[in-house]
Amino acid sequence: MPDDKKNRSQDWYGPVNKDGFIHRSSMKALGLPDHVFDGRPVIGICNTWSEFNPCNSGLRTLAEGVKRGVWEAGGLPVEFPVSSLGEDQVRPTTMLFRNLLAMDVEEAIRAHPMDGVVLMGGCDKTTPGQLMGAASVDLPTIVVSAGPSLSGRYRGKTLGSGTDVWRLSEDVRAGTMSVKDFMAAEADINRSIGVCNTMGTASTMASLIETMGLSLPMNASLPAVDARRMALAHLSGIRIVEMVKEDMTLSSILTRNSFENAILANAALGGSSNAVVHLLALAKRVGVPLDLSDFDLGAEVPLLVDCMPSGKYLMEEFCYAGGVPAVLNSIREMLRDAPTIQGRSIRDTAAEAECYNDDVIRRLDNPVLAAAGIRGLKGNLAPNGAIIKPCAATENLLQHEGPALVFSSIEDLRARINDPDLPVTADSVLVLQGCGPQGYPGMAEVGNLPIPARLVKAGIRDMVRISDARMSGTAFGTVVLHVSPESSVGGPLALVQTGDLIRLDTQAGRLDLLVDEAELEARRADWTAPTNLAERGYVRLYQDHVLQADQGADLDFLVGSSGATVTRESH
Ligand code: FES
Ligand code: MG
Repeated sequence: MPDDKKNRSQDWYGPVNKDGFIHRSSMKALGLPDHVFDGRPVIGICNTWSEFNPCNSGLRTLAEGVKRGVWEAGGLPVEFPVSSLGEDQVRPTTMLFRNLLAMDVEEAIRAHPMDGVVLMGGCDKTTPGQLMGAASVDLPTIVVSAGPSLSGRYRGKTLGSGTDVWRLSEDVRAGTMSVKDFMAAEADINRSIGVCNTMGTASTMASLIETMGLSLPMNASLPAVDARRMALAHLSGIRIVEMVKEDMTLSSILTRNSFENAILANAALGGSSNAVVHLLALAKRVGVPLDLSDFDLGAEVPLLVDCMPSGKYLMEEFCYAGGVPAVLNSIREMLRDAPTIQGRSIRDTAAEAECYNDDVIRRLDNPVLAAAGIRGLKGNLAPNGAIIKPCAATENLLQHEGPALVFSSIEDLRARINDPDLPVTADSVLVLQGCGPQGYPGMAEVGNLPIPARLVKAGIRDMVRISDARMSGTAFGTVVLHVSPESSVGGPLALVQTGDLIRLDTQAGRLDLLVDEAELEARRADWTAPTNLAERGYVRLYQDHVLQADQGADLDFLVGSSGATVTRESH
């Protein structure tokens, strides 16, 4: 960029007139002197800090590290809040509000005088929500994540966020753990601020961000409370000022190759199934062609990271073993050439990385599992697609045929799942309807249905389960998710009845309802759409405009970008 190029913020802070007076004068209330409005890069620090979101609560102090770096590099840092989404606090599900956060972020960036943005997020939806919004403005953008919490420790054993909640609560249902012992684990699983310490959705998304070159190396895995994260924030502050000078926009980093690398890395990481909807939505914001079938790129990639929920270690061990760069080093032959915010190819980062513990981050010739990637499924039960995460499933259930046991809603499921007389065997296929984007609403993480009580007591811990819902990135099981179209808009999932045979063929990428077309046609004619639309407000807007899971579940009118230009003044 030529030195005489005017920064965007100078449209606000440059003019020697009434408008410039108003913009500068109000900022001087912060104690800023004259000379910081001299045309230097203004860096917006977009912060999702909240006490209702303990995963992200460290971002309040971490932002100070970013500011030090911005000042040092000659920029002006200005921190601003956007809404926050704490996965474990928000009802009915944070996914209902991911797109709202994206709108908040997009409009906040566009409306304010900034030249570059630092996105500070962590908990599951905050990372994709921030990125989607920022992508629709397209300023130079860097991500500084909250980082994982410390490993859980309970009576001498390791506890992983989420994963062990699902596991121990099933032990309680099976009668092998007391409620008292279960409750005692509460304080031991979350030992510090920071995101889930497993390879759940938060650490998956942060790892994919690092893979896509949108953060400095090690951003995903340094523990939230590690002093080196503060140093990384400082360095990111320096780098974003340079990126503004280089005019390095977000869309210049988010290429088709970056998305392909993310898909490959997600397989090697054993990353969250939620990455699928987030990557699809992000791709649509930047106009990169990407669909469900592209995830098959990862199908033959081996699982290299032995972290929960697909393995045994936690994010702390992953960090000390070398983190994302070490994984990229293991898959370097597969990686596409793609730019990073460091101004070099991600392949250069991969080439110079080292692994310090090849039990945690395996070499290609000694994987945890030979083929790990999330598989797209299609068939008459999911005409537009569904997904399954084989590395979190039971191998002999990946090919399965069995009779459906249908639950028409989450309430129906909760009412009957513990019924000792439920007509179910280990071969049954549990089907849950009404939990998709429009139906729940918000496509909640309820797809890993609990195993019926009578089977849990008999020692059964996994069954084939199918729904239009998502599941937590920390969850596991032979679970078919994101069935599209969803049942609430009349997808074939709505037509399944108890006793129908269903065939899951993961190998062939198929999901079929073995009921003849004439019978399905008759059921379709009988079907009436649920009356679940909200009367008013954001939820109604969401229900009227949400795209199906195979399209990323964004709102239809948010696809694409509007750029950074605002021509009209405020006064
Ligand atoms: Fe926030 Fe898992 S609950 S990252
Ligand atoms: Mg989660």
